[in-house]
Amino acid sequence: MKSAKPYIEKNKQRFLDELIELLKIPSISADSAYKKDVIKTAEAIKKSLEKAGCDTVEICETAGYPIVYGEKIIDKKLPTILVYGHYDVQPPDPLDLWDSPPFEPVIKKTKLHPEGAIFARGSCDDKGQLYMHVKALEYMTSTKQLPCNVKFMIEGEEEVGSKSLGDFVSKNKKKLANDVILISDTGMIAKDVPSITTGLRGLSYVEVEVTGPNRDLHSGLYGGAVANPINILAKMIASLHDKNNHITIPGFYDDVEKLSKKEREKMAEAPFNLKDYEKALDIDAVYGEKGYSTNERNSIRPTLDVNGIWGGYIGEGAKTVIASQAFAKISMRLVPNQDWKKITELFKKHFESIAPEGVRVKVTPHHGGQAYVTPIDSLGYKAAEKAYEETFGKTPIPQRSGGSIPIVALFEKELKSKTILMGFGLDSDAIHSPNEHFGIWNYLKGIETIPQFYHFFTEMSK
Ligand code: BES
Ligand code: MN
Ligand code: MN
Repeated sequence: MKSAKPYIEKNKQRFLDELIELLKIPSISADSAYKKDVIKTAEAIKKSLEKAGCDTVEICETAGYPIVYGEKIIDKKLPTILVYGHYDVQPPDPLDLWDSPPFEPVIKKTKLHPEGAIFARGSCDDKGQLYMHVKALEYMTSTKQLPCNVKFMIEGEEEVGSKSLGDFVSKNKKKLANDVILISDTGMIAKDVPSITTGLRGLSYVEVEVTGPNRDLHSGLYGGAVANPINILAKMIASLHDKNNHITIPGFYDDVEKLSKKEREKMAEAPFNLKDYEKALDIDAVYGEKGYSTNERNSIRPTLDVNGIWGGYIGEGAKTVIASQAFAKISMRLVPNQDWKKITELFKKHFESIAPEGVRVKVTPHHGGQAYVTPIDSLGYKAAEKAYEETFGKTPIPQRSGGSIPIVALFEKELKSKTILMGFGLDSDAIHSPNEHFGIWNYLKGIETIPQFYHFFTEMSK
């Protein structure tokens, strides 16, 4: 495979312009007000795949948002790569914290991106990263270098738990048959420290509701005499961690995969500077489970976090009131061997059991998924390693990430193939946050590296 660099240099402006057009469509899957835009984005993805050289592209309807499926089969005897990505994005809220509107992409230079970065919701997660695959395909087809078969499966519900994808995958096993799955929806350590994601955490997401009196009460007339659901909820949540920041839910750690001393030592070799990490977040210290390093806390250890909490009066000024109800959304990040359905049950049982008299507690599970780890001696991993060596001039470091793409574990179960996570984002790209961005350098480096993966994977499969 010839280096894609000259082709990228020549087409760079168009590659940026096309991505910018895609980023203008607010494909927010969580908010039904954007339904039309989500569907419009699926159509835009379809067109881009057709233009890039897919032979057939279809929009597959589901109970939720459509899945765009495209393929180019050049020879049944050659290996097949299945590319997965998602065209939906997270809600941009809070809007007032954005320096420029989330769906009006702008290019700005930053300290880490002196070549410029595209600021827009979805620029890195995942429109920008999935579009690298579309442009890599364009390069390979237009220069007649595509070495193997390729299938694309791009969904529109990843950010809300991939509700329809599981069903689609189990019903279309033959259509989706492949030798390796390739995803760019994660990050890398740094621009000069390429890495391949070898692990994703699982997830259990629940919502809790604490109900006290049958109406909001005057906090003077009733204060002190009835349970205040917000006070109670705060207490209950606080009790979910002990003084060492271990999670107190009985049985929570029972199945947690234990890493050997050697594995932990290997992990500690990855470049990491705690002072820089703290500085980037404006915090004076990190915080977490006793006995583990920051990199372990956010990758190989399970966690429990409140993602949102509300109740009572939050308007202007002061209102003296005891709310009838209090709510919170809680996520638990899980590690290999922990079963998300079992953890959800353990949470529910425990949370209900710690409710004091005077309140009622309701736990509603949202969605979840299993963790994923991929070996570093698979053909796919080795091909990815070679691809990075070719374009970065360095061997990439395997790294387990703290994020979740729950569908990956399901791919392995249903399609029996390994997933290679070639992410090109940086932690500082602010995915899910205001001012999300994606470095132009990273975008183009991805387009350059992907064809090399196709090449080495095909060669090594022989
Ligand atoms: N692309 C992210 C996951 C990710 C980002 C993994 C960076 C590793 C590194 C994905 O879009 C995402 O946000 N996933 C959700 C879970 C989903 C079920 C809503 C997450 O991790 O919160
Ligand atoms: Mn993503
Ligand atoms: Mn995301």
